[in-house]
Amino acid sequence: MKSPSQYYKPLAIGAPEPLQELPVRLERTIHFFPPQVEKMRAKVPDMAKQVDVLLGNLEDAIPVEAKEAARAGFIEVAKAVDFGDTGLWTRVNALNSPWGLDDLISIVAEVGDKLDVVMIPKVEGPWDIHYVDQLLAQLEAKHAVKKPILIHAILETAQGVKNVNEIAQSSPRMHGMSLGPADLAASRGMKTTRVGGGHPFYGVLADAGSEGGERAFYQQDLWHYTVARMVDACLSNGLKAFYGPFGDFQDSDACRAQFRNAFLQGCVGTWTLHPSQIEIAKEVFSPEVKEVLFAKRILEAMPDGSGAVMIDGKMQDDATWKQAKVIVDLARLVAKKDAERGAQYGF
Ligand code: GLV
Ligand code: MG
Repeated sequence: MKSPSQYYKPLAIGAPEPLQELPVRLERTIHFFPPQVEKMRAKVPDMAKQVDVLLGNLEDAIPVEAKEAARAGFIEVAKAVDFGDTGLWTRVNALNSPWGLDDLISIVAEVGDKLDVVMIPKVEGPWDIHYVDQLLAQLEAKHAVKKPILIHAILETAQGVKNVNEIAQSSPRMHGMSLGPADLAASRGMKTTRVGGGHPFYGVLADAGSEGGERAFYQQDLWHYTVARMVDACLSNGLKAFYGPFGDFQDSDACRAQFRNAFLQGCVGTWTLHPSQIEIAKEVFSPEVKEVLFAKRILEAMPDGSGAVMIDGKMQDDATWKQAKVIVDLARLVAKKDAERGAQYGF
């Protein structure tokens, strides 16, 4: 790691100063679109009103013969549309692919001032981030980009998970990380063909009772360990953690359950790959009304956050005050974008 005195220095003469704190933004839904498809580009202005972040996907799921068209389509739509307070991100091709370099060079040159975050797939260690960090600084300087473009890493290789904390600490440009369960499953040799979500065989069997009979099987969350490691690495370094793709678009109940586990564990948002997942993500990643109202009561009962009080028979102290503040701060952010939920929260 760099010495602290060097950490926040721009990496190129003329590049914008790195941020010391992430901008405060609501990022419940990172909605993916394939920018090479004209019909999808036409929907972008409308989609931008429905989601918190729109992401032009250039990597996996984009056919090899459409890679350049996807890049050009992203630049076209980024130039044409006013995204308001909706974030504009792209997922570029991997650093070891033939397209990753041109993705970064062309996009920063053409729309560097409109791009908030670049998502880098298959990040293995801090060396990948150092490379992108330096390159972005050079490109920002060359094209007089005014604010630093942030980096979001996908956690989707066994080596990336091993190095998750070093990745989180690798640059002040780091925005956060998403779980990439499909590539990660392959990289780890996990025996599943699913994209995120549970697996019916991953669980525990209840103890054999003395009476014999049917033993209950309890399915477990296959992603619990990785999400927990990602959340700790991100939150201990001032970054944000996100769930990634949920591939079974038909199974909205399982999608909701997976998103909710991630939310409860500390993630602030998720990818949405299909329009049907947008409302699920907004619902799950906005705090529950009952929780917000209770959290507000805790903050009101302990204005300076110290001491102890009882509310409805439940003990509250300095630590529960901090828990309540996480929920109320998030609710306030949601209320700014979402008047209906804001009214339910009483803001
Ligand atoms: C996402 O990119 C994944 O591999 O799950
Ligand atoms: Mg992937």
